[in-house]
Amino acid sequence: MNPIISVVGARPQFVKAAIVSRALALAGVEERLVHTGQHYDAAMSDVFFDELGMAPPAVNLAVGSGRHGAQTARTMEGFEAYLVGAMEAGPIAGVVVYGDTNATLGAALVAAKLAVPLAHVEAGLRSFVRAMPEEINRVVTDRLSDLCLCPTEAAVAHLAAEGIAGDGVVLCGDVMLEATRTYADEAAARAPLAALTGHGAGDYVLATVHRAANTDDPARLAAILGGLGRLGRPVLLPLHPRTRACLGGIAIAPTVEIRDPATYLEMLTLTRSAARVVTDSGGLQKEAFWLGVPCVTLREETEWTETLVGGWNHLVGADGDALVRAAVLAPTTPAFAEPTPTVGADIARLLVERWG
Ligand code: UD1
Repeated sequence: MNPIISVVGARPQFVKAAIVSRALALAGVEERLVHTGQHYDAAMSDVFFDELGMAPPAVNLAVGSGRHGAQTARTMEGFEAYLVGAMEAGPIAGVVVYGDTNATLGAALVAAKLAVPLAHVEAGLRSFVRAMPEEINRVVTDRLSDLCLCPTEAAVAHLAAEGIAGDGVVLCGDVMLEATRTYADEAAARAPLAALTGHGAGDYVLATVHRAANTDDPARLAAILGGLGRLGRPVLLPLHPRTRACLGGIAIAPTVEIRDPATYLEMLTLTRSAARVVTDSGGLQKEAFWLGVPCVTLREETEWTETLVGGWNHLVGADGDALVRAAVLAPTTPAFAEPTPTVGADIARLLVERWG
């Protein structure tokens, strides 16, 4: 089979790609990993490759930060040059993109315009909020993809509602669930709780905030931080550099412990032992759900509606009082207990079948 080119750029994509890369290697498929460089701080990028045991990328496009147009344009320019060069050297089986970042969108546009087969891992997710940059990235990427690899039945239904159906839409299961299960034991061994915090299991709340809607609006960010300060427990807040840059002038209670961004294994340990998770991240909502930790989500909607069932997740937006109220509610259904899926292997098999 000709080589596959996978494109990543931001934290959650490294984790998704790790699972698929491992399966592609086992299937004997040559994969070339392109890092767009959207995330570039060591704590936001290099540490993930080390921890996940991933080979360094074949190339880093060094796209860096910027407004959406500039960041996407730089991704396209860099990836187009790379892909054209690769195609001149020999045939390429296809391009795989992950999730919903600007790296996903930029790479998808380039592959589609060069008529290279395109697969989207985590296709079909919708928040139905067009003001969310990730939503635009999802809608366009799915429309351009030859293979939409969906994590849930709801995702398949969203695509069908947009007229995207047929054998290009495949329900594969959730690659992040496989990652959570695959790396949970390693997290316990390599990032034990005692090495990360003096707080015992169940004694703290784990929080993250990084969505543009929350960080770029000082009133929303202040309301969220105010709510976190009134939870009556220590709050560990590993902070994305985007959020740190927006903190100026906002009062922060002494119970809220601001930290540097955590690695993937550290997050798994901190999540598993938290009394609650409070977040605006998509991935962390699910990780909390899978690890049996109730979650409060700092958004008005979620792509992962299955986490809402039984009160495992509550949507509070940026309402600090609603956050405080939701953070003590107990779920009414048993914790999620599905077996570990084999999503990576299933995706690798499918890619060999379709592109081999
Ligand atoms: C991106 C994704 C988001 C994903 C998140 C994971 C888009 C539109 N959004 O958001 O879906 O959930 O990654 O973390 O692609 N910065 C640094 N160092 C870095 C990277 C970023 O300091 O290594 C700062 C810069 O000030 C930058 C800001 O963070 O301007 C935003 O970074 P960017 O990658 O554009 O978006 P994220 O908020 O990380």
